[in-house]
Amino acid sequence: MPTPLIFSAFVMNTASHILHGVWRQPGARQVEFNSLDLWVDLAKELERGLFDVLFFADVTGLYGDFDGSYKKHVDIGLQIPSNDPSVILSALAYNTENLGFAFTSSILQEHPFNFARKISTLDHASKGRIAWNIVTNSLPNAARNFGYDDLTPHDERYEWAEEYVDVTYKLWEGSWDDGALLQDRESGLHGDFSKVHRINHVGKRYKVEGPHLVAPSLQRTPVLFQAGSSPAGTKFAAANAEAQFLIAPTPDAAASKITSMQALLPKYGRRAGDIKFFQGLSFVIGSTEEEAARKDRELDAAIDDEAMIAHLGGAMGIELGTNQLDQPLSDVKTQGIQSVLNWVRESIEGREATVRDIGILTGKRSRLVGTPEQIAGKLKAWQAAGVDGINVMNATIPGSYSDFIEHVMPVLRKQGLAKEGYAPGSLRRKLFGHDTVPETHPAAAYRQAFH
Ligand SMILES: Cc1cc2nc3c(=O)[nH]c(=O)nc-3n(C[C@H](O)[C@H](O)[C@H](O)COP(=O)(O)O)c2cc1C
Repeated sequence: MPTPLIFSAFVMNTASHILHGVWRQPGARQVEFNSLDLWVDLAKELERGLFDVLFFADVTGLYGDFDGSYKKHVDIGLQIPSNDPSVILSALAYNTENLGFAFTSSILQEHPFNFARKISTLDHASKGRIAWNIVTNSLPNAARNFGYDDLTPHDERYEWAEEYVDVTYKLWEGSWDDGALLQDRESGLHGDFSKVHRINHVGKRYKVEGPHLVAPSLQRTPVLFQAGSSPAGTKFAAANAEAQFLIAPTPDAAASKITSMQALLPKYGRRAGDIKFFQGLSFVIGSTEEEAARKDRELDAAIDDEAMIAHLGGAMGIELGTNQLDQPLSDVKTQGIQSVLNWVRESIEGREATVRDIGILTGKRSRLVGTPEQIAGKLKAWQAAGVDGINVMNATIPGSYSDFIEHVMPVLRKQGLAKEGYAPGSLRRKLFGHDTVPETHPAAAYRQAFH
């Protein structure tokens, strides 16, 4: 029997996350994102389907302008409005028992002392089910929202991230020894002073005295997710991540990424099994091939291509909006995004690719279409490529997840590709078999370090 895949649901606390325009569909409850009911219902549904993680993406600014403005973003709700995901997690944890909760937080948006405190509090409240998706932030508007004139250069952001995680590791792992919280009514001793330490961190960007204000939670350090793919991002992930998100175009491409990442791990004192790899995919499921193909066409028609272009152009830091949608790609004047343009060009056969094709193809990217049996076969191929888990992207909430749980999960379960029940304990225990980071992780070096 194969090892069961791990399943994460990839969402954002907003109406239009990745597939833009779909919020207009009748079943798209994501427009109710201001309401806790939507998220509590989804968390319960995911737990019913034995999903492992509910993963919230997040940004703290707008993508770059489209056609010289952010009008398009507001018009179509391109991640605006969007709410803080961390604030709603305790409610979701309270309404579930086993589902893990990963949320994105950028090094830009919060001081590491306060962030570490927030994570520890959530980890207590969820009995050890919190994960952090570490992002360095690539949006100039986000930088300007936090008082910077512009983005910190790319590789310097990863140096910043190294110091940021270092502060949090010291607080989570080194500030409190095991057994420091006594709460002994008889002696009147609440804590053991000899086991609670200042960290006295002094670095390039931060000075943090400590001690950590929260006693250790079940996992201490949350499960660490990361998605960097640049050379600097890959090194950061090899050193720190316990789960890496991929959006590889094919299983072969994923296999090559995973192999090179595995090869890098020993350089950072880590072992092959220390990182789980999650491939992002979305699904269109039909009871027959024809039905799946029809639903696929309906989804294509519901996607707003122009909004897809606004999002992708903004993410790449180029102004695609000033180009006419039917302009050939060879006419697009831009620096540094040739790989994306080439990918689009190579994907179109028999005619010249246009700006519109960028929107259409990004909408279709990573989408598996078919019957539950066909989809199970494709997931098997992703697993054979070395993928441990699937990050399930949605068109509609909760529909995309209910369909997957109702129709695909039972087939996967029969084939041993999905689990039969939850393992007990914290999220890290469910994924790796232990509650706290292993000795091979850099955070572990701070245990007993501040005596
Ligand atoms: C599945 C996935 C989810 C991501 N989620 C976010 C997110 O929520 N917020 C964000 O700012 N960046 C997000 N990113 C972007 C990555 O954190 C990272 O910035 C990007 O992959 C580029 O990394 P690099 O600069 O090392 O190449 C995500 C990337 C992937 C593949």
